[in-house]
Amino acid sequence: MNALEELKQQFLETIGAVSSAAELEAARLKYLGRKGLLAEVRKNIDFKTLTPQEKGQIGKGFNDLKTLFEAKIDELAASLKKSDGPSKRPAIDMSLPGSGHTLGSLHPITLVQMELEDIFMGMGFYIESGFDVESEKYNFEALNIPGDHPAREMQDTFWLKNGMLLRTQTSANQVRVLEKYGAPFKAICPGRCFRYETIDASHENTFYQLEGLVIDRHITVANLISVMNLLLGQVFHRDVKTRLRPGYFPFVEPGFELDINCLICGGEGCKTCKQTGWIELLPCGIVHPTVLRAGGVDPDEFSGFAFGLGLTRLAMMKYGIPDIRLFNSGDIRVLEQFTATV
Ligand code: FA5
Repeated sequence: MNALEELKQQFLETIGAVSSAAELEAARLKYLGRKGLLAEVRKNIDFKTLTPQEKGQIGKGFNDLKTLFEAKIDELAASLKKSDGPSKRPAIDMSLPGSGHTLGSLHPITLVQMELEDIFMGMGFYIESGFDVESEKYNFEALNIPGDHPAREMQDTFWLKNGMLLRTQTSANQVRVLEKYGAPFKAICPGRCFRYETIDASHENTFYQLEGLVIDRHITVANLISVMNLLLGQVFHRDVKTRLRPGYFPFVEPGFELDINCLICGGEGCKTCKQTGWIELLPCGIVHPTVLRAGGVDPDEFSGFAFGLGLTRLAMMKYGIPDIRLFNSGDIRVLEQFTATV
């Protein structure tokens, strides 16, 4: 290849990689500038040693190359102006090897929440999330818990300066969904709750619950128990030993505590179940007429059941996580065991 041909190839490569006006100007100077490569090649040819015919040929070669360089540069300048920026070459080089970073995965509580949402959607429930910051009205008063009621003591509350509070229970959504849907309806409300609690293996100050509310004509405790059993069977994919005992919540009557046999120790007693062999998981009951009235629903025509599943504790039982503090620990060795992504 002679010097002119080599220069032409080099120029075409340079120009093919240009993606901005600045790069184009640099290429122009490099090849066509007074001290550019074209001038350089020309300077290195000893014309005195050439015949007139050779001089003519080389002279024409130079002119043709100069014309080609100028035409290519003008053409590219016009197209860069039109696209007003870089050329249409992809910004990412797909042929580069991967960076080796592993993808994050969904948190175990999110996984359990998504699974429950699927189960309840299959049964025709709406899904509502409510608000982390709630009013005293929805969190307490509308639930039959006025300011001087001893039940307020059961839930140590984080109060905000403006009189609002951090939701202590997803039951705060009960009257909100009654107001929204009237009757009949079925809804679940998963969400974060906050209590000023002493933290131990099964208590956090920030945890998740999933409220459920079914309102219709002739709803009884039998409906409640059958939905709870169906739910636990689907979540654990096996029979789990449960026990139902009376429980007191001012917004249900009658009220129950549904406990499950501790799946960490198999019921023998451990620090997760406080050596009792049972985990308090699913308080529930028949909705109190006062709550129905607060939501604008006539208790003489409709009844319903409600439950407040401890979602964080359910995740502990399902995945065999013995200490609730591991959820918020940010410990990668715990979290990387859950590989599901969206
Ligand atoms: C309630 O919060 C009622 N709102 C539940 C309810 C709903 C009753 C509808 C009747 C009808 P309780 O305070 O027991 O109840 O909490 C419910 C569940 O949330 C508990 O069983 C437990 O699983 C979970 N839970 C409560 N406090 C904590 C905590 N500090 N850390 C982790 N989980 C908790």
